[in-house]
Amino acid sequence: MAHTGNQMRLAVLGAGKMGGILIEAFVKQRLVSPQNIFATVQHAGPERKNGSKLPVSLTNNNRAAVKKADVVFLCVKPQTVGQVVDEIRGELTDKKLLISIAASVPAEYIERRLRGKVPVIRAMPNTPSVVGAGITAIAAGKFAGPKEVETARRLFDAVGKTVVVDEKHMDAVTGLSASGPAFIYIILESLAEGGVKVGLSRELATLLAAQMTLGAAKMVIETGHHPALLKDTVTTPAGCTIDGILELEEGGLRVTLIKAVVKAAQRAKELLVTDKSA
Ligand SMILES: NC(=O)c1ccc[n+]([C@@H]2O[C@H](COP(=O)([O-])OP(=O)(O)OC[C@H]3O[C@@H](n4cnc5c(N)ncnc54)[C@H](OP(=O)(O)O)[C@@H]3O)[C@@H](O)[C@H]2O)c1
Repeated sequence: MAHTGNQMRLAVLGAGKMGGILIEAFVKQRLVSPQNIFATVQHAGPERKNGSKLPVSLTNNNRAAVKKADVVFLCVKPQTVGQVVDEIRGELTDKKLLISIAASVPAEYIERRLRGKVPVIRAMPNTPSVVGAGITAIAAGKFAGPKEVETARRLFDAVGKTVVVDEKHMDAVTGLSASGPAFIYIILESLAEGGVKVGLSRELATLLAAQMTLGAAKMVIETGHHPALLKDTVTTPAGCTIDGILELEEGGLRVTLIKAVVKAAQRAKELLVTDKSA
């Protein structure tokens, strides 16, 4: 079966928010043609099919979707993974690839429920994937080799950047880059409020804050310089920026952000799906 090339056939089980984002990106980037994507949801009545904005048809038949596919994306909620894996077990072989994006679900939990050596990849994307600026961390399960990692990487590259990590880091990734967009939106909103306080319209303040954040992130990625060095280039002696930095330090911004990531990662660990919890 073809894991690569635009003849690849995909099953997306759970075409909700993240599953839908992935489907739209794969089609837009011409990685997979819409007729080769078999998407499922829980409630697939006629109104749902007609109302769906996705460029593919929706069913609730997971087994039929997996049967037709080379690569299977598991995009249901973590607590539903076990049930869906049990349902599709009979259709999976070592020639297919199963990619799970469910938070807190170890590859081993899935592998144990499957018969044979089905390659499993665990992935953690994030919502900026919808605008092609996501970051996805992928980790190989015990039966997934370099070929399967490459296939997953190529697919997730369609929605942004992809990094390969050891699976033990997945909860940390969840706390940083999967939860992180929410933290940044709060920072952005607060910066815009600051702009409003000093007389800018909300619309302009939000644009200034957002484009500035995008630019600062690009600087870090494209120059490869340490963020502290880049910060120093903005901070002239006795200038305006150092006064702002003083406020940030007094308000404990650094410590607060560090704690936010640590707490979110801890929560991902607490939510671990096991045979007992599922
Ligand atoms: N959202 C994020 O930022 C994010 C980031 C990284 C990873 N994830 C992971 O992505 C997964 C999905 O999250 P989401 O935010 O996309 O949730 P979501 O929008 O609720 O999507 C879940 C989808 O699963 C469908 N579903 C439920 N039971 C099913 C079944 N038995 N067979 C087939 N489909 C079924 C639901 O169908 P109905 O629509 O009919 O209910 C829904 O479309 C989660 O495991 C989450 O951990 C999410």
